Amino acid sequence: MNNHTIGFIGAGNMARSLAEGLVANGWDRKNLILADPDPEQRRTVTETLGLTVYEKNEELTSRADVIVLAVKPQLLHGVAVEIATSLRRRTAPLIVSIAAGVRIGDLQRWLGGGVAIVRVMPNTAALIGSGAAGMFANELTTQSQRDEAESILRAVGVTVWVRSEGLMDVVTAVSGSGPAYFFLVMEELERAALKQGLDGPTARLLTLETAYGAAKMALEGGEDPVQLRRRVTSPGGTTERAVQVLEAGNIRQLFDDAVSAAIGRARELAEILGKQ
Ligand SMILES: NC(=O)c1ccc[n+]([C@@H]2O[C@H](COP(=O)([O-])OP(=O)(O)OC[C@H]3O[C@@H](n4cnc5c(N)ncnc54)[C@H](OP(=O)(O)O)[C@@H]3O)[C@@H](O)[C@H]2O)c1
Repeated sequence: MNNHTIGFIGAGNMARSLAEGLVANGWDRKNLILADPDPEQRRTVTETLGLTVYEKNEELTSRADVIVLAVKPQLLHGVAVEIATSLRRRTAPLIVSIAAGVRIGDLQRWLGGGVAIVRVMPNTAALIGSGAAGMFANELTTQSQRDEAESILRAVGVTVWVRSEGLMDVVTAVSGSGPAYFFLVMEELERAALKQGLDGPTARLLTLETAYGAAKMALEGGEDPVQLRRRVTSPGGTTERAVQVLEAGNIRQLFDDAVSAAIGRARELAEILGKQ
């Protein structure tokens, strides 16, 4: 598998993180290539990662066994139409799209049909190697291609496969947008701490380390969040009083509504992108 050449179209933040993760996981640099029209991006990747970055996408498509589409979603139509001709000239490579909101059917249409496609929804924590990505493969994708796509995303975090493409909108609402929900909670806890008299650096440190410690306990402790919360909520204690306030403010309904709203917007955006 490691002899396959992985080509990234777009050498921006996400492609660079994935390539860096693959290098760190022992992938041979000669099997990792990128393409980007921006000379600054090309220079940065060559200097920092020691990888080949082509100016033209066609130089990459003729060489790669797996092509990762890592341009902004609104640019994907143009890129797909551009590379469609060169894909027809050779044994079709696996296409992995990390573009948020672009449906496989639309991408397939733009690429001219008959292509094995894996759609991925990564999240921003992939940039520091702690991502959580949802994945869905079309019916033309073989098991070894699914494994290969998964091994690429595993270089920057955990991966899960979903059983229908519609669930990618739920992944978008949970882990794609999810970092912002936790940032908001951190922001508000820090603000409340400041208001109650802690100084700025202390409020920030206590907030962030608490968030980190809670996530680490939930991931590593073998107990689910409900049990963990109950264990730190002594009857009649301070935590209980605070949790009662959050529940009275309808935190459960708020999360239901927030996730539903994100799913709705993901569907709207997919419709808009698919009109091209
Ligand atoms: N970053 C995240 O947290 C995140 C999370 C989930 C999903 N994603 C998805 O990941 C994809 C990439 O995001 P990103 O944050 O890495 O974006 P980015 O930093 O803007 O990277 C995209 C790169 O593609 C280049 N590009 C533009 N047109 C191109 C073309 N025709 N051919 C080849 N390359 C081209 C851009 O160059 P210019 O700078 O010159 O335009 C840029 O270097 C997006 O589709 C996004 O939805 C990202």
